[in-house]
Amino acid sequence: MQFDKAKLAAFYRDALGDISLDALDMSRMPAHVSIIMDGNGRWAQARGLERSQGHLAGVASLRETVTTAVRLGLDVLSVYAFSTENWNRSQKEVTFLMQLFAETLLNELPLFHQEQVKLRFFGDLEALPQKTQETFKQGLAETANNTGMVFALAVNYGARAELARAAALLAAEAKAGSIDPASIGPADVEKYLYTAGLPDPDLLIRTSGELRLSNYLLWQIAYSEMYVTPTLWPDFTRWDFLRALVAFQARERRFGGVAS
Ligand code: IPE
Ligand code: IPE
Ligand code: MG
Repeated sequence: MQFDKAKLAAFYRDALGDISLDALDMSRMPAHVSIIMDGNGRWAQARGLERSQGHLAGVASLRETVTTAVRLGLDVLSVYAFSTENWNRSQKEVTFLMQLFAETLLNELPLFHQEQVKLRFFGDLEALPQKTQETFKQGLAETANNTGMVFALAVNYGARAELARAAALLAAEAKAGSIDPASIGPADVEKYLYTAGLPDPDLLIRTSGELRLSNYLLWQIAYSEMYVTPTLWPDFTRWDFLRALVAFQARERRFGGVAS
């Protein structure tokens, strides 16, 4: 995707940071960056606040991250916002998050328009509260014709559920006689993933230091580079994003081949 050099420079000049934008090679940018946004609860706890305050602070981080991704000219930014396992949290926290998703989405629609961001969701949205579903649908409809970066929110997403769903859809096709089970390959599975049509993440970032995937994009990250930072999600800034990209560019991706 195109990026505006002057806008990018100004965006980074606007804030104080400890790493220079010059460290980045703009000719070797990833197309898709995905983020497991973790650590909101610990951020709040460290300040003697309720977990919900951590989630609120996390929204500000997300807004900055979306803007950073647009300025950097990424094709796709995806973020893990709520897992199929997160229903196990207190009802109070789940209800708060569902309302926060709906409110945030509405609040951010002007930004999405201004930046030409196109929304997308990964996950089973039918299980979400009615109001949240409605705002998500509104967001999808209102950004459908935007031509810039795809911003995907994984909500009620679990990789195992996603793969089971793809298997069920393929089984239905086989039963209807429109596909031969013996011919099913990776491309047939991909057609039924929530990420269909998008490039796999080049870079997967996880905040808050946890070294696990927590049921996120298990299929799609087969060859993604991983970057884990101890920074808690509400503290994640454009500078942390830059550090992750610089680290990514120092990696050698082999995809099973040999070193060049
Ligand atoms: C990530 O922060 C946000 C969601 C999972 C919704 P957490 O809420 O998991 O924060 P920690 O991991 O408890 O600190
Ligand atoms: C992963 O974080 C899910 C999201 C960021 C939405 P969790 O906080 O739910 O993961 P675990 O429980 O620490 O593995
Ligand atoms: Mg967590």
